[in-house]
Amino acid sequence: MKTLLRGRLLDFHGDPETDTNTHRWIEDGAILIEHGRIVASGPFSDMDGRGARVVDHRPHILMPGFIDAHIHFPQVQVVASWGEQLLDWLNSYVFPEEGRFCDAAHAQRMAEFILDEFSRNGTTTALAFGSSHATSVDALMAAAEARNMCLVAGKTMMDRNAPDSVLDTAQSSYDDSKALIARWHGRGRLAYAITPRFAITSTQGQLEAAGALAREHPDCIVQTHLSENLAEIAYTLSLYPKARDYLDIYESVGLLSPRLHLAHAIHLEEREIERMAESGARAVHCPTSNLFLGSGLFAGRTLEGRGIVSAIATDIGAGTSYSMLRTLAAAYDVRQLRGDKLGILAGFHKATRGNALALGLAHYIGTLADGSAADIVVLDPAATPAMALRAERARCLEDELFILQTMGDDRAVVETYVAGRALKGGAVDRVEAVS
Ligand code: GUN
Ligand code: ZN
Repeated sequence: MKTLLRGRLLDFHGDPETDTNTHRWIEDGAILIEHGRIVASGPFSDMDGRGARVVDHRPHILMPGFIDAHIHFPQVQVVASWGEQLLDWLNSYVFPEEGRFCDAAHAQRMAEFILDEFSRNGTTTALAFGSSHATSVDALMAAAEARNMCLVAGKTMMDRNAPDSVLDTAQSSYDDSKALIARWHGRGRLAYAITPRFAITSTQGQLEAAGALAREHPDCIVQTHLSENLAEIAYTLSLYPKARDYLDIYESVGLLSPRLHLAHAIHLEEREIERMAESGARAVHCPTSNLFLGSGLFAGRTLEGRGIVSAIATDIGAGTSYSMLRTLAAAYDVRQLRGDKLGILAGFHKATRGNALALGLAHYIGTLADGSAADIVVLDPAATPAMALRAERARCLEDELFILQTMGDDRAVVETYVAGRALKGGAVDRVEAVS
């Protein structure tokens, strides 16, 4: 069965921060979907929709589903925990909460919640940390598989400086990760991410085990944290006195590569910037998290100017919203505080094709190109009374996008399609005709 989505179409083929010809905007556009993939997109008048079920989303905007490049699955009940900066926040709130994910029933309930929440917010792919328990990854992967969702996730490796309820060992973390890779990596739309939490909670032996996993599985993403908070950096360097800097701890075990996603990367030394740029390691900006924990202001434009690829993410549960619209708004604010600007198109590029490029998945998500997965978000720039009033004065696409970014959240998401299937329920009333 084919489906034809009609609406106003936006996607990117270049980066508005560096390229000139960057996006495609079609006022009356359509996307033809078959077997979960986009088979064609373009002006509605050019599209052969014979035999297709037509869903008319006009006047709403269809764009590639949002991609969240860093989120902690076991922190859905940590969001909005008051008063601490990173290390105390981890000890007071995060570690005790993550300990509960050894329970499969709890993990399953939370997995259903987070994937529902993704759909409510137009997020169609995420790069996620599990807890240190394999059960958490099993629950999340199984739930994503049932929805045919493209998800990348891994079991957190952590063998010191945390309560027993969340600790593994170097050997068990290697064995569990290996078994999870065998079970989930490349199955349907799922991929595995090798996931040492950060240097503070891993012994040298465990980081070496992570390095071994990365060598043995060269198509797995690797994710960890880097230089989020000044107290974190000082403690890290005291634990690894021989390291040249924080990044060197990961570099010395062979983790540095374009597959490595380094969340935060706020307080960087010159050598770290050089090595990230040379190696292709990604910096992941988590603006609502960095503001909430008082961690600092990500130097997006500087780092990108130095050749570092960056991604953008919610970082739930230090992040304060599941919405990539709210996340873009915070990224804009962070740039303002740095005396800089985030372009409107640049932001929407980051949340879609930009993150797909960072994750190495742009051949199949992040755009509306033929052959891509039909992962699509439908957005309403006039979703609330205040947005509708403001939208009366919108003169162009960029005005509407900036209203979405500045005032929008899950209320602006009309529908979310994952592999062509409407997961939010907003499209049910809109099916126009089966012809
Ligand atoms: N660094 C190590 N673990 C975490 C985490 O769970 N959240 C954040 N924001 N930073 C971390
Ligand atoms: Zn994180």
